[in-house]
Amino acid sequence: MSEYNYRAALAYHAVSSYFPGDQLAVSEYNPKQQPLLYKKYTSLEPIALPKQLASGSISALQAVAASEQAANRVPDLQTLARLCYYTSGLTRPDEEKRAAACTGGLYHFELYLVCGDLADLPAGVYHYGAHDHSLRRLRSGDFRRVLLEATGNETAVAHAPVLAIFTDTFWRNSCKFGPRTYRHTFWDNGTLLANLHAVATSAELPFKLIESFADDIVNSLLAIDGYREAAISLAALGATAEEPGNAPVIEELELPTEPLSPKEEEYPLIEDIHEATLFSTGEESATWRDAEAPFPPHAAPEGTLIPLRPMPLDDWPTAPIEQVIQQRSSAHRFAQQPLSFEKLSTILLNALHLPNADCFDPAGRPLNDIYLLVNNVSDLKPGAYILHPEQKALELLKEGDFRKDATHLAFDQKSGGEAAVSVYSLIALEELLIRDGNRGYRVAQLESGIFSGNAQLAAAALGLGATGLEYYDNEVITFFSPSAKEKQVMSLFALGERAE
Ligand SMILES: Cc1cc2nc3c(=O)[nH]c(=O)nc-3n(C[C@H](O)[C@H](O)[C@H](O)COP(=O)(O)O)c2cc1C
Repeated sequence: MSEYNYRAALAYHAVSSYFPGDQLAVSEYNPKQQPLLYKKYTSLEPIALPKQLASGSISALQAVAASEQAANRVPDLQTLARLCYYTSGLTRPDEEKRAAACTGGLYHFELYLVCGDLADLPAGVYHYGAHDHSLRRLRSGDFRRVLLEATGNETAVAHAPVLAIFTDTFWRNSCKFGPRTYRHTFWDNGTLLANLHAVATSAELPFKLIESFADDIVNSLLAIDGYREAAISLAALGATAEEPGNAPVIEELELPTEPLSPKEEEYPLIEDIHEATLFSTGEESATWRDAEAPFPPHAAPEGTLIPLRPMPLDDWPTAPIEQVIQQRSSAHRFAQQPLSFEKLSTILLNALHLPNADCFDPAGRPLNDIYLLVNNVSDLKPGAYILHPEQKALELLKEGDFRKDATHLAFDQKSGGEAAVSVYSLIALEELLIRDGNRGYRVAQLESGIFSGNAQLAAAALGLGATGLEYYDNEVITFFSPSAKEKQVMSLFALGERAE
């Protein structure tokens, strides 16, 4: 039994729950005074990245599901440009929309790269500017050992030629969503990570998500305060035989940026929960990562199982992930026609392939339980289902036409009831937190965000519509109970044929 404190995460989850009658946006939200969508350094010279980007030879669905682990690979500038653009780039400049879906279209995440010397980029700490598709060098020299120390010698970090770091500038999302933003932190980092993983796979680069790191060490390296802007996750990209040498001293940097907005509100609930999840040393990170306690068990099926029926590989669309990301957008309306069970099965099974990570169940089974509210899927009775990943099968929990519930549960949004299926991630949160402490809250949310991001990429590859959606926490639990009793809702997305 671990001795982690986890009350802060449970308390945050409870106070950030939505109830019928709540407003989606905080009352002070004024779209005209919205903070900048980009971090813009005013004193650093841009290093323009290639704009003609390569695509992979595997299909988008393969890129979502596969993992490239064996190769010894070091990316060049062209590959870095491809990774940055298809993760965080401005793919639809006319609408100011980006490669990965993001709550409210507020794009509160920044992407940094820490690399050793590459063939066409000197070692350094770089920021990716989505607004001009350029890198800016914050520090010169090889600082990867700082990250190795921050993670307590994580093996993929030791051999990564490049590390990506995602940071959240909370105010850029809390300006609209208030304290709920700390959930969006992980959902939105999840869609970014789903993209980064799929594009890394397409580029045949080994990938590992890292959640065990000493936060302040990483924040200091990026010269961010860890409170208005904070590191949320790292990803090790590529593999080399050698480990990095000693890093230069981390000097304090004064790097002016354009002000985000004339005024900034503070949300102590966000500051408090984030602080409660922090690690201070590499040693603490390694101890957490190496915990041997089993992950909480999942309930065995009790009813008849309906095997998923994925499309044969030969029928998978061949478009590469880069094309799918360039063309993707969230669906706002869904057509009233059935979603094929084969397509739904293919999406779910591909999305369940979580990336290699230091924080998920090494057995590959998601920590979250996947619940479905089916309105209109061919060969599937309308009703509520739970997915059993080991059996690759659905279990019917209750049959019925629940369209009205699907709208209501999705924060009374029409798209919930219109969609062919709503997919919820639920988790026995307290059990996970007993094992993993408050940091486990980040893991539970992040996993659901990546699953949702994977599924939305797979849906886009199949020409279907998908969107993340907000929801009323307790109503969802009641709807799926008794199966969902003692669980908490992490996230929701909806799927179907597009109406637009
Ligand atoms: C986790 C998540 C939750 C979302 N929730 C909602 C929602 O409740 N209602 C809605 O209309 N759109 C929702 N969206 C869609 C975003 O508004 C959309 O991703 C954003 O505007 C960017 O547009 P794009 O996805 O077409 O690029 C959500 C997106 C994400 C990633």
